[in-house]
Amino acid sequence: MSMNTENKNEAMVSIRGWNLYYGSFQALKNINLEAPKNEITSFIGPSGCGKSTLLRSINRMNDLVEGCRHEGEICLNGAEIHRDLNVTRLRKLVGMVFQKPNPFPMSIYDNIAYGPRILGMRAKLQLDEIVENSLRQAAIWEELKDRLKKSALGLSGGQQQRLCIARALAVKPQVLLMDEPTSALDPIATAKIEELAQQLKKDYTILIVTHNMQQAVRISDQTAFFLLGDLVESGPTQELFANPKQKKTEEYITGMFA
Ligand SMILES: Nc1ncnc2c1ncn2[C@@H]1O[C@H](COP(=O)(O)OP(=O)(O)O)[C@@H](O)[C@H]1O
Ligand SMILES: [Mg+2]
Repeated sequence: MSMNTENKNEAMVSIRGWNLYYGSFQALKNINLEAPKNEITSFIGPSGCGKSTLLRSINRMNDLVEGCRHEGEICLNGAEIHRDLNVTRLRKLVGMVFQKPNPFPMSIYDNIAYGPRILGMRAKLQLDEIVENSLRQAAIWEELKDRLKKSALGLSGGQQQRLCIARALAVKPQVLLMDEPTSALDPIATAKIEELAQQLKKDYTILIVTHNMQQAVRISDQTAFFLLGDLVESGPTQELFANPKQKKTEEYITGMFA
């Protein structure tokens, strides 16, 4: 629960009148949603309801999908992501972590240094510092500090996922998008990622897709419930689960579609 309830956090991500079509199929219908700064917002709902599509809209990953078009706007800290930012700038501001950990086939160090290098950073001392800080932020520095030159592919799934989080943080984004980041992990690795997300929200705004309602309850401040492309209901997590306003939300959280 927020300590200063009278001082509600301002929105980091604002989605207004967002419609998205894959060809003639409308995957998202007039979505209006705000994700407050330094909070965790979770997207829940049955498979195929548009959670990933909305998350991918926020860093314009659907741009490359043939036949995909959209209406409406998405603002990041007040800047409309199609009009006021170019994709390179947007991707620096918005990091993404996927369901299946996807480390690059290179050393742990080079995975983390990858983004900063693309942005033009060459100084070794500076890169060393970013690698260490990013791994520390992802709570994996102690485990990896003695094997930075080893391949990232040799890590466990849970370590790979924290490495991918560290890689996303290395370019100092403002927003972190996570699409079912724990669904390929065991319970212990899942708990570590959940704990990490709680720590990271002090510095970042996090939007997470989860098919696990308990996870949404455990870690998120805000929850948005989707059904067949509609945003049925959104609000503070405790309220949405304790006292859903919509019948469909109630049915879902009590397990009728589960
Ligand atoms: N690239 C695509 N081309 C066409 N349809 C897609 C594409 N990606 C997703 N869809 C469709 O859009 C709907 C929402 O998918 P998705 O956002 O992946 O849902 P969720 O993440 O909630 O499971 C589904 O009906 C899915 O089949
Ligand atoms: Mg999905």
